[in-house]
Amino acid sequence: MADPNQIRITRPDDWHLHLRDGAALAAVLPHTARQFGRAIVMPNLKPPVRTVAEAADYRARILAVLPAGLGFEPLMTLYLTDNTPVTEIAKAIDSSFVKAVKLFPAGATTNSDAGVTAIEKTYAVLAEMEKLGLPLLVHGEETDPAIDIFDREAAFIERTLAPLLRRFPGLKVVMEHITTTDAADFVRSAGPQLAATVTAHHLLLNRNALFNGGLRPYHYCLPVLKDERHRQAVVAAATSGSPKFFLGTDSAPHPKSAKEAASAAGGCYTAFAALELYAQVFEQAGALDKLEAFASFNGADFYGLPRNTGQITLKKEAWTIPTSLPYLNSDPLIPLFAGETICWKMT
Ligand code: NCD
Ligand code: ZN
Repeated sequence: MADPNQIRITRPDDWHLHLRDGAALAAVLPHTARQFGRAIVMPNLKPPVRTVAEAADYRARILAVLPAGLGFEPLMTLYLTDNTPVTEIAKAIDSSFVKAVKLFPAGATTNSDAGVTAIEKTYAVLAEMEKLGLPLLVHGEETDPAIDIFDREAAFIERTLAPLLRRFPGLKVVMEHITTTDAADFVRSAGPQLAATVTAHHLLLNRNALFNGGLRPYHYCLPVLKDERHRQAVVAAATSGSPKFFLGTDSAPHPKSAKEAASAAGGCYTAFAALELYAQVFEQAGALDKLEAFASFNGADFYGLPRNTGQITLKKEAWTIPTSLPYLNSDPLIPLFAGETICWKMT
């Protein structure tokens, strides 16, 4: 009989990850590479990764600091701008390591000022992506300051995403880090060309966590946490067994000094214990049997990539997340749930 205190699943992948660059990259990469076979690496560096040539350089910098023996494969993305040349799309396909293009609406999140100012400006590039089968990853929030921040995902679906899918019905699109009932319903009812990633923090926390006993910058990420009704809808979607939802941590490291600031940076650092946090959610939902498809199958299938072959083991074992991790010189990284005890551990 299977041991209820242990699960073995196919090695998972992280379909949405921020690795940064330089010393920060070297500090965080081992955490992800220990757990995941591959990750979709976000291009929002300063300056952003806009071309296949820049993605090749960034990929080489990642591989240069990858600890030996971890067998991790970075999957690269291009940062879509108003001026992305159409010719980059065929180059991306030929590269075999650029797997998607990321749309950050200008000003929506960290390092997005080079983002798209009007979606119409990218139509020729999107048409080429539709034709050649390169997925578009969207940060799905409207940036109109008149829209309440908690309503920006729903507004993006109505104003931008739904019209976009009608205009490019064959374009593969991933709605990244979904946070609302609206997004879960929209993705579920759309065709197979639309899928979504789900973070651990949006599954575990609702917006009360932002104000729990004081203002909590380590719970601040974009899209911002939503209310409990939305959290439950996102949990239901992720644990439903639908192939349209898959693991994407959006693990986004910022140094302590940038988080504990008057204008705190958005981003939760979850890579240190990502899989364990997801296991906790799936267990609470009575859906541990659905974890493997969510973490290890659905994303690869959507991207048209082979599933990983190795396996990893999670044990039911209490352990405490460190209060701090080394990051930049004398500016540490505080992981989400620092100092708190969690109940699953990857062995
Ligand atoms: C991300 C980051 O810090 O790069 N921040 C975040 O709050 N998620 C950017 C992003 O994915 O929106
Ligand atoms: Zn992100």
